[in-house]
Amino acid sequence: MPVRNAAEGILSDEKSAQRQELIELLQRAYWMEIETVMSYIANSINPDGVRAQEIIESLEGDIQEELGHAQQFAKRIKELYGVVPGSLEFTAEQSYLQPPEHQTDIVHVIKGVIEAETGAIEHYNRIIEFTDGLDYVTQDMVIEILHDEEGHRRLFEGYLREYETEGLA
Ligand SMILES: [Fe+2]
Ligand SMILES: [Fe+2]
Repeated sequence: MPVRNAAEGILSDEKSAQRQELIELLQRAYWMEIETVMSYIANSINPDGVRAQEIIESLEGDIQEELGHAQQFAKRIKELYGVVPGSLEFTAEQSYLQPPEHQTDIVHVIKGVIEAETGAIEHYNRIIEFTDGLDYVTQDMVIEILHDEEGHRRLFEGYLREYETEGLA
């Protein structure tokens, strides 16, 4: 009998088609995190004005978390016998997080962050549903990451509320 190292659950031969589909979902998640890191670096440095400070500090903290998420997705891709994609496979999508015309336009940044976090929340909910009954390790990891993204979005929704209250958004 040959030695079987991967005979159970998502790692089994009979799950290889679903495993491939999951790897593709994780690769997309990986790119979303990488692009978010790029966008948050730019938007944590570009803004001008006294009101920008809170946003800058908040995004600086998020950069490290999003980078950590990218690494978690990459590690899971490998554990599932996939390959972490190279940079040439990257396609940018975050049109809403490009630098605003005026660097004092904080509302533009806040709305862009909310859109990025919402995109992540939608995609990660999809992975959680896909992995249900199939791969609890990935599901558990993505639930935790989803929790982070929900926290990020909630914080920026609060910032937007403040601007709305003052008639600035
Ligand atoms: Fe993230
Ligand atoms: Fe986030």
